[in-house]
Formats: sequence, structure tokens, C-alpha cells
Amino acid sequence: MLPLVLEEVSFAVNGRLIIDRVSMEIGAGPRTVILGPNGAGKSVLMRLCHGLLAPTSGSIAWRGAVNGQTRQAMVFQRPVMLRRSALANIAYGLKLAGISPRERALRARDVLEAVGLADIAGRPARVLSGGEQQRVALARAWALGPEVLFLDEPTANLDPGASRDIETLIGQIRAGGTKIVMTTHNLGQAKRLGDEILFLNQGRLVERTPVGQFFTKPTSAEAEAFIRGELPWN
Ligand SMILES: Nc1ncnc2c1ncn2[C@@H]1O[C@H](COP(=O)(O)OP(=O)(O)OP(=O)(O)O)[C@@H](O)[C@H]1O
Ligand SMILES: [Mg+2]
Repeated sequence: MLPLVLEEVSFAVNGRLIIDRVSMEIGAGPRTVILGPNGAGKSVLMRLCHGLLAPTSGSIAWRGAVNGQTRQAMVFQRPVMLRRSALANIAYGLKLAGISPRERALRARDVLEAVGLADIAGRPARVLSGGEQQRVALARAWALGPEVLFLDEPTANLDPGASRDIETLIGQIRAGGTKIVMTTHNLGQAKRLGDEILFLNQGRLVERTPVGQFFTKPTSAEAEAFIRGELPWN
């Protein structure tokens, strides 16, 4: 994976700064967790990283990319299921990526099996449970064979059991060589899934710390307050 480089990235809507001069480099290797309270700007930052939003100022680029892109995929905080079967949802993503019909069918079946949903391949995706839909969304992204996968709050609306299943699946995807960049506001999840923590608050990247140190010795008062459950301050 090529490094993704953000330089002084800001994003404003109607003059309100949502992302405030974020500079960072995300490279291959460690699982990167963007942690922060509700409204910190995590989803917006993720959309900026994936190229779905353009910064108001500053720059974002894959260093050394020939066509400005790398093989990347994103799973949204609220996954959108098309009005068709689980299998067809995955196949459609592959179609958009220019994969041949034959290959699409094979890959879609394989990946559904890998996420443990082979049995419900033909069921309309929109009637699936939240946990199943999230697995379909992950499968749809995974099927693209991304070098880097952006996951926005992958378990936000799931119960602990379904969350564990998703976390296991993220581990499998990573084991296949995909770089994971994810957001969460869940401290336990950040601890379990993160190697490095990027702490975001009020649109600012407050600190970037290896996970072990983050939870024992954060470098900022804001992160310390968040860990204690005292952020946002009022
Ligand atoms: N397109 C937009 N137009 C106006 N305001 C926006 C837009 N997108 C996001 N915001 C605002 O930017 C702030 C950050 O939103 P964002 O969704 O990135 O937060 P978050 O950290 O992902 O929160 P959560 O943990 O609840 O998912 C919020 O105050 C939100 O209302
Ligand atoms: Mg969000």
C-alpha cells in the first residue's frame, strides 16, 4: 500500500470548520484506529481519506500513485443495501469495479461464504438483520481485494455478539494483507483492534499514539478526559 498523506487538511461547511488542519501520514502495516467522541469529525475525515469529499483547503494524496488512486474500499457507518439479494449486492459492487460477469459470480459466492452468509445469499439484503447487513457490507468491500479498507464505526449499531463477529471478520481481512483504517468511539474496540490510535476531537488530530501507551499514558489532556469518560467537556 502506498502511504496516504494529508497536509493541513481542513473541511468547512458554511464557514464552520469540521476538520481543522489535520496533517498525518497513514502507511502500510499497523491497524490505524481513529478514535473520538460523537461529532468529532471521524466520518468526515474518513470520507476525505477515501476521496468522497474534497478538502476546503490542504491536500490529500497517495504518495507515488500513478493515477491518483490506490486499491481502496470503504464501509459506511450506515451501510446502504440495494434492493436485491445479498449476493447481487456484492456482485454489483464488482460490476462497478469492472469485473467480468463470470468472475463476479464466483467471487461474490466465495466472499459470502467467507463471512458465513452462504446460506442467505439469495435473501433480499434489506430484510437481513443489522449484523448480517454489516457482514454483507464488509463482504462487498472485501470482494474488491482492497489494499486498504476504511471502516467507519463498523459495529456502531450492533449488539456485543454481532460486534464480536464483525471484529473477528476484520481480523481475517487484515490477515489477508489488507491495511485497516477504522473509526470508533468505543474504547474497548479501539484497544482490541488498534495498533495505533489517532485521537480526534472537535475536528483536530489531538494525538497519535501506539495503543498500549494511549490507554496508560495519553499525551493530551483531552484524550485523558475521553478515556475517563469525561469528554465532551461542557
Ligand atoms: N455535509 C455536512 N454538512 C454540514 N455539517 C456536517 C456535514 N457532515 C458532517 N457535519 C457535521 O460535522 C460534525 C462531525 O460529523 P461526523 O459525522 O464526522 O462526526 P463523527 O465523529 O463521525 O460522529 P459519530 O461518532 O456520531 O459518528 C458534526 O457536527 C456534523 O453535524
Ligand atoms: Mg461517524
